[in-house]
Amino acid sequence: MIIAIDGPAASGKGTVAKAIAAHYGLEHLDTGLLYRATAAAVRKMGAAADDAQAGLRAARELKAGDLADTFLRNRHIGELASIIAAFPAVREALITMQRDFAARETGAVLDGRDIGTFICPDADVKLFVTASPEERARRRTLELEARGEATPYGEVLADIRKRDERDSGRSAAPLKMAEDAVLLDTTELDAQAAIAAGIAAVEAVLRSQQGQ
Ligand code: CDP
Repeated sequence: MIIAIDGPAASGKGTVAKAIAAHYGLEHLDTGLLYRATAAAVRKMGAAADDAQAGLRAARELKAGDLADTFLRNRHIGELASIIAAFPAVREALITMQRDFAARETGAVLDGRDIGTFICPDADVKLFVTASPEERARRRTLELEARGEATPYGEVLADIRKRDERDSGRSAAPLKMAEDAVLLDTTELDAQAAIAAGIAAVEAVLRSQQGQ
């Protein structure tokens, strides 16, 4: 079984994806980490964020072991990742790693921006997790604070809006809900309620498929 979970920054898709994977005994890949690790490698090369050639080289050389670094969750890496993710050649270089992961016999949950629309268009279940920009900024502010990267709420909200615009406005695999995805708005839900709603949504899709 393949479950595709997409949505904007700090929507709760990672939390929901991880819990759904554990619930069904599936492997989980946070595909944002691929773009974050590529961005980190470009920075290490000393190249500029908008250097497409450096991005492509970094993406081609990426290995699974590069995804474990906790530093990848850093605020600035997220920003760089969204710049690099707009280059079609970078996205292309990361396709195989994602599709190979999805093809595992154990089944998989992948979360990102273009999983249901592009990476796994035939996924068994697709969820699109979202929340208001204000609520997502509130969550990200708390997350950053907990990691010792305290940032004023206003700045985080501005970051979120800029990232939404970049991720939705780019021509290569923009962030958008797949036509056959189930919408999960977590604005009014805490993590436990969002997880419960996510599992309920998956169950409903699986039931409707069994009935067909
Ligand atoms: O955790 P957060 O939602 O802030 O970011 P992320 O999921 O780690 O993704 C970081 C950036 O990578 C996003 O802003 C996207 O530009 C890009 N990304 C993408 O283009 N496609 C994906 N499948 C996953 C992430």
